[in-house]
Amino acid sequence: MRIGILTGGGDCPGLNAVIRAVVRKGISEYGDEFVGFRDGWRGVLEGETMPLDRDAVRGILPRGGTILRTSRTNPYAVEGGPDRVLATLERMGIDALVPIGGEDTLGVATRLAEAGVTVVGVPKTIDNDLDATDYTFGFDTAVGVATEAIDRLHTTGDSHQRTLVVEVMGRHAGWIALHAGMAGGATVILLPEKPFDLDAVADHCRHRFASGYSPIVVVSEGAAPRDGDLVLSTGEKDAFGHVRLGGIGAALATALEERTGREARAVVLGHVQRGGTPSPFDRVLATRFGLAAIDAVHDGQSGVMVALRGTDIVRVPLSAATAQLKLVPPERLAEAEVFFG
Ligand code: F6P
Repeated sequence: MRIGILTGGGDCPGLNAVIRAVVRKGISEYGDEFVGFRDGWRGVLEGETMPLDRDAVRGILPRGGTILRTSRTNPYAVEGGPDRVLATLERMGIDALVPIGGEDTLGVATRLAEAGVTVVGVPKTIDNDLDATDYTFGFDTAVGVATEAIDRLHTTGDSHQRTLVVEVMGRHAGWIALHAGMAGGATVILLPEKPFDLDAVADHCRHRFASGYSPIVVVSEGAAPRDGDLVLSTGEKDAFGHVRLGGIGAALATALEERTGREARAVVLGHVQRGGTPSPFDRVLATRFGLAAIDAVHDGQSGVMVALRGTDIVRVPLSAATAQLKLVPPERLAEAEVFFG
């Protein structure tokens, strides 16, 4: 078969491991040929490709980012986009597509599958907010980066007796904040799922100072206070309609400094969480997803996504993965709250 692969949305450690696994198994077990589409759906829209043979995937397992590059192009937001996508696939003789992405990339895949394209999706996002899979690759790496940062911030924070606010990624879901905050022993963890009370956060910080240590506040970029007076975004939107977030960490530090009378600083981890080599867990998960995706293509599947259920890799309908986001359930935050303050 002739199979197209693309990576869309924000990059994520482990993308190259998926590409390598799909290509290696596809060539050696099934005699497939591969076409790499450049920059996510943009490459399919514009017919821009790169060769994906055994040589192209050699040595990429531990490499962060994506050799195919990525973009947030949405063909359904472009005049005549879906027809151009279908025309490219037809012209290039593509029998099946393996898109690797999050809710937006796989949302496009869902619609293309409905239009008759053979599609097997692979879930990706450091935010871990895709439904129908227990974990996405990239999340473990991001949590590792954020946890190491929190470990380091404890010692400098305690030395200066100041509050350190750590802003982590997580537009709609606070999985990175929750896991890194628990792993790093944060004083407070603030998630998009639960608007926070500034006075209560300040109380936890005061309590922490009273114990002789300094507070670490971990906040998801999408978190917001209950009264809404700290909400920040540039107002700029991408092709999928998401506003660019940023700034909650700095605003929170200022507010906490005023309320506690102690100096507070913000650290924004940003894209450091997405860059660099994937953790061993993410390399294994990404590799297993890739192997399962190429098997699904050859089993004649379409409109499905590979997913992790417990320790098994399963196939789920693409629509189940993209219908809603997997948010942090209230009980997961509640169990962490016993450590607050
Ligand atoms: O979608 C994953 C994510 O990491 C979000 O948490 C974050 O808002 C977004 O990517 C930022 O990505 P970029 O800076 O590439 O637009």
